[in-house]
Amino acid sequence: MQHFQRTSAAVSPYFPVGGPVPAAELVGRESYLRRLVERLEDGQHVLLAGPRRIGKTSIILEALRRLRRRGAHTAYVDCLGATDVRGLGERLADAILQNLSGAERTFEHAKAIAGGMRPTVKVKYEHVELALQLARETNAQRFFEGALDLPQALARRTGKHVVVVFDEFQAAGRLGPRVFDVMRSRFQAQRGVSYAFLGSEQGILEELFSNKGRAFYRFAVPLDLADAGGHRFGIDPDDWLEYLRGKFAAKKMTIDDASVDRLLDATGGHPQDTMQVCAALYYLMREAGSRVVSGELLEVAYEQAMRELERPFALHWAELGSHKYLQQVAKRIAHRAVLYAADADGGAVPRPEVLRALDGLRLRGLVVRLGRGRYDFVEPMFAEFVRRIDEGMLTAGIVPSR
Ligand SMILES: Nc1ncnc2c1ncn2[C@@H]1O[C@H](COP(=O)(O)OP(=O)(O)O)[C@@H](O)[C@H]1O
Ligand SMILES: [Mg+2]
Repeated sequence: MQHFQRTSAAVSPYFPVGGPVPAAELVGRESYLRRLVERLEDGQHVLLAGPRRIGKTSIILEALRRLRRRGAHTAYVDCLGATDVRGLGERLADAILQNLSGAERTFEHAKAIAGGMRPTVKVKYEHVELALQLARETNAQRFFEGALDLPQALARRTGKHVVVVFDEFQAAGRLGPRVFDVMRSRFQAQRGVSYAFLGSEQGILEELFSNKGRAFYRFAVPLDLADAGGHRFGIDPDDWLEYLRGKFAAKKMTIDDASVDRLLDATGGHPQDTMQVCAALYYLMREAGSRVVSGELLEVAYEQAMRELERPFALHWAELGSHKYLQQVAKRIAHRAVLYAADADGGAVPRPEVLRALDGLRLRGLVVRLGRGRYDFVEPMFAEFVRRIDEGMLTAGIVPSR
């Protein structure tokens, strides 16, 4: 029985955590969404770069739902899943054909039909006609380029505007030496298609889109999410307040303003960390039969959420261990210690190395610069994790198996 409860909570938790969330759970993004949809509808290309787990994918999926309701065709491609350019091309082909067939993985059918199979009731000839020639292409590079032309072909054929999203776009660059150049040269000539590029490796993306000489120089308008409206992570604390009150009230529970403030202080308003603490809090209260959020309950929920976040945090931490000084400088930031002190804890780090490490932490989207020599973690709970590791409260390097 207990086991059943746990799994059902994990499948659809009251505060969803982990993947893209439905529109009703998307706190504080309305004005951003409107801007995003407007731009894409106007035929502009946009860049949406920001740290992990702040809601990029959730936002773009909702934007695509809205665009479809307004009559556009859409395609969503996650670049992280592809292992070569052919794979990336097939994902794009699937996403484009889905507009016609209504089914996922339609490109498989296109290949079968190109090979002489009969169309089925579900997937008809006209659903795949657009990609039949592509389905016969054996050369990987030509295949990739052909796939990149599909959005334009769909726009021409249907007369509808097509919006294509590449999520975790920086990962496409790892599929080959000239992937970005090829993409840009194809996209550039297209009409009736807008592109949205998303990614969590902010440094790589910003360079790709804003350095002269790089493939996507000035190709897309960057729409800053992390700092939209001047709020941390771009979400107005008042929107959190309203959402949390409503969510708890729907379960006949109450949360007061002071508790919301404490909660947002602890998580820095980081979207997933905040949702994680709320989920823990809600289930804790339900089990204990409590009706009112208290400071004590909040503390227990925070610890529970911290344990749940240990795994992703440990992965970040381990990755930092592959470079000299990154962990050491990260610890100094977490403790708000003097960054350049020659004789600081953990031994001497030469000044140029400190600077290099700071850059590395910023490029990874883990750390922001507040001012001269002042840096802070983007995610307060990750900072807390680092302090705990440093103080030996956690065992670094051991990734919990949960
Ligand atoms: N606006 C938001 N309101 C509430 N929770 C959010 C919001 N954005 C993100 N989250 C939380 O973060 C998690 C990850 O969101 P996701 O869209 O996958 O982020 P990203 O693509 O930036 O990594 C969601 O499951 C949810 O718990
Ligand atoms: Mg994402």
